[in-house]
Amino acid sequence: MNLQRETAADHSAIRTVVVDAFDQTDEADLVEALRAGGDLAISLVAMDGDAVRGHISLSVLKSPDATLALAPVSVAKSCQGRGIGSMLIREALIQARTIGFKMIFVLGDPDYYCRFGFSVETAVDFPCDYAGPHFMALQLTEQSVEVARVEYAQAFSNL
Ligand SMILES: CC(C)(COP(=O)(O)OP(=O)(O)OC[C@H]1O[C@@H](n2cnc3c(N)ncnc32)[C@H](O)[C@@H]1OP(=O)(O)O)[C@@H](O)C(=O)NCCC(=O)NCCS
Repeated sequence: MNLQRETAADHSAIRTVVVDAFDQTDEADLVEALRAGGDLAISLVAMDGDAVRGHISLSVLKSPDATLALAPVSVAKSCQGRGIGSMLIREALIQARTIGFKMIFVLGDPDYYCRFGFSVETAVDFPCDYAGPHFMALQLTEQSVEVARVEYAQAFSNL
């Protein structure tokens, strides 16, 4: 499995994988709206030969400064449980740190995301519409992150 940044040639295959993973089109529409809005900071595909099997997107948050939202991450149903999702998340974290982002927020299952270092405790001081037991964050640097309301890119308000 090869991890690569998305190119325009991957857009339609990404849509197919995201719809397959979620059994609905909302998350694929979200990826496309983030892309169209210029908010997709990191978008990686997991390639098996020339076939896209997985995808992850991280979008820039309006606030706090230099932070990202991880969503969605998708692996084609027939390929789930083989470590592809984990590979995509780990690589996305490396790229986010390299670019200089300070923190990543995610809304998901703590049992899954805790293994990558996300925790509810790290997010708890940050007010957000999604705050709660599934709202987590991972700090990428030792620099402190200003505590501010977590505001997602415009595309999320269409969900
Ligand atoms: C969630 C998802 C991306 C994981 O990718 P994957 O390649 O199947 O996962 P991996 O093989 O890297 O990891 C498998 C582990 O994740 C766990 N896992 C998979 N989906 C999970 C979920 N929705 N919640 C909690 N744990 C989950 C599995 O139980 C397994 O745990 P184990 O290692 O303790 O056995 C993939 O299953 C998927 O696309 N699911 C549908 C879409 C979705 O729910 N995306 C996440 C929310 S944005």
